[in-house]
Amino acid sequence: FLSPIALWKSRGQKHPNDMDSAFSIQPVGRFARPSEAVKRPKEFACFSYDDEHKFHLGDRSMRWYYTPELDVDLSKGVDQFVKHDSSVDEHLDSLLKTIMHHEKQTGKKIDAQVVTWRGCVTKFMASPFEDRDGFELNATLYQDCIFIEENHAYRMESEREQAKQPWRGRIPREHMTFWGYKFETLATLPAPWGKTSREYIEGRKDEPVNNLAQYCSVVRTGVGNTVLCLGGEVDAIWDSKPRKQGDAIRWVELKTSAEINSDKDYSFFERKLCKFWIQSFLLGVPKIIVGFRSRDGILRKVEEINTEEIPATVSRRNRSWDGNVCINFAADFLQWLRTKIDDEGVWRIRRRAGSPQIEVFKTSEDTGHGRILTDEFINHRIK
Ligand code: A3P
Ligand code: MG
Ligand code: MG
Repeated sequence: FLSPIALWKSRGQKHPNDMDSAFSIQPVGRFARPSEAVKRPKEFACFSYDDEHKFHLGDRSMRWYYTPELDVDLSKGVDQFVKHDSSVDEHLDSLLKTIMHHEKQTGKKIDAQVVTWRGCVTKFMASPFEDRDGFELNATLYQDCIFIEENHAYRMESEREQAKQPWRGRIPREHMTFWGYKFETLATLPAPWGKTSREYIEGRKDEPVNNLAQYCSVVRTGVGNTVLCLGGEVDAIWDSKPRKQGDAIRWVELKTSAEINSDKDYSFFERKLCKFWIQSFLLGVPKIIVGFRSRDGILRKVEEINTEEIPATVSRRNRSWDGNVCINFAADFLQWLRTKIDDEGVWRIRRRAGSPQIEVFKTSEDTGHGRILTDEFINHRIK
């Protein structure tokens, strides 16, 4: 008697649910080598969501960084927060639309081997140093390129699970999330400062906070020998876009964090820096501006951090993570993934919380591309 997997193997085929398809994260030490080649991310297209979260090509929702006032209460307006409904699965739709438009304009297909949101890459790239949270992604192969999206049902389920956990903090979780968006409103302008009215600049602490609007950059980048096309939100620009497309853009990533008053606070912050760094590194965001707040949400200090200096700083301090390991891990994992996802259908990329490996297997959707790709995108590519 042969198991289904052995039966497929005896025919020289690979069973779609062959569970030996796992990439080991441990031991992490094997990724500690000089860093694999990385390409500098270059923006080749962009899109915006407006105040109603409607899609538009172009940069209409881009914001400009402008130093925020200190000692402001980040909670102000929490009851008027206009919050995006995350229960809707947006798949890769906006990214695919933008790519499609770019391909029509240039008359050729992009050359990426992997297309996804920056947030999906952040998830696996951080996994050598992050094992508290698991993740699930869906992937499909189409025209020699792997398209990866978040498994939205899994995300919804983990959010429900998290909400069930007892919360010991004084301030509710959603309220703290608001602080991050409030800081974005306090530290940015909808136009360069010379074109913004004084009333707007001075009235920023009373501006309504809305996370429906977004600017998203679409870049071509590379990790090891994999070429990626990534889409991701950027919070603000420092000055203005360079005249020449492909030149580095002085993007700004905004973050809030609790003030650092002890070694323990620093250790906590250093661990958070891992995801800050990966997120900014992947889109080529050179500067992260951190708004340090008191425990009850008063903005106390603003600090500029150069993204490229973060790994060296961490390696001089607590060494709670290692940027080279993240890069090499991502390079090896992507190379391996490209040998595994070798056929159509919907694949799952999964790490269970605390697991030393990332599993890759085909779901019961054996053909087609599920809902990862839109008909519009497929029809465009067929022509
Ligand atoms: P902070 O990063 O200041 O906490 P981003 O930093 O990626 O631009 O996201 C902006 C804000 O969205 C965050 O502000 C945080 O409030 C919220 N946010 C982003 N990712 C989140 C997550 N995984 N869980 C909860 N809130 C999140
Ligand atoms: Mg953001
Ligand atoms: Mg931010």
